[in-house]
Amino acid sequence: LRHLLSIEGLPKKILNQILDTAESFVGVAEREVKKVPLLRGKTVCNLFFENSTRTRTTFEIAAKRLSADVISLNVSTSSQSKGETILDTVDNLIAMHADMFVVRHAQSGAAHLIAKHVPPHIHVINAGDGRHSHPTQGLLDVFTIRKYKPELHNLRVAIVGDVLHSRVARSEIHALTTLGVPEVRVIAPKTLLPAQVEKLGVHVYHDMDEGLKDVDVIMMLRLQNERMNGAMLPSSEEYFKTYGLTPERLALAKPDAIVMHPGPMNRGVEIDSTVADGKQSVILPQVTYGIAIRMAVMAILGGGTGAAL
Ligand code: CP
Repeated sequence: LRHLLSIEGLPKKILNQILDTAESFVGVAEREVKKVPLLRGKTVCNLFFENSTRTRTTFEIAAKRLSADVISLNVSTSSQSKGETILDTVDNLIAMHADMFVVRHAQSGAAHLIAKHVPPHIHVINAGDGRHSHPTQGLLDVFTIRKYKPELHNLRVAIVGDVLHSRVARSEIHALTTLGVPEVRVIAPKTLLPAQVEKLGVHVYHDMDEGLKDVDVIMMLRLQNERMNGAMLPSSEEYFKTYGLTPERLALAKPDAIVMHPGPMNRGVEIDSTVADGKQSVILPQVTYGIAIRMAVMAILGGGTGAAL
């Protein structure tokens, strides 16, 4: 594995090796172990052309806990504002001996463009491109599920909300189906589902109460207004009434079901605060496990571990 650009097309064996490697980093993510020296002497460069709280920060923490040097380019104060192209920016950072790029961009395909451009010793990780892919989020989500519900082959998982504009949902669906989760449901109005979504191997529900019945895992999604290009949206109140996760709706799932959300959450729009902060919520553990997953991906790509990949 040279780059991580998408989960689509990655075989089960590689996904499991990433998840198993992440397992070995949980102690570091949870601060029981301070640091490991796997990427000592390497430079990881965070290139976030779109806003982020969780992904950018956990990549930075993960790289530092692997003992790498980290540069997080502040794109808004960089020479991008003077018209420099992404590839010129990348070339200049390579001239400074960057070894790995972590890229987030509003345009689908941005990380692929950089991956095609860089010389063979440089690695690129997609940290979210447009509505296309967010592979480390998909991986950290299945890692979290595996921690709470290890028998993936027995699970029923529901992904709820704006699947159409969600790179997270795409990555989750590919990860879950590849790893053998037998029933992945998507619950959304027709207007927030991609055409022919069934071809991804999911069961489609438009009624929230019906779709949540007896599920083991509920993954809530935010309405991604920034990718809707002015489309007519339901009001927050209307949306919450039909697709918001309330305690009453959560009670339709299995009693031990877990509630997930990739963040950022819009409380009172897709999720009620009682549920987000409730005892079935694993939303904050998702963030901690994100450090372990990102450590695993960077260590594997950088040659520090999992060389067989
Ligand atoms: N889940 C996620 O990608 O969050 P950020 O946009 O804060 O990175």
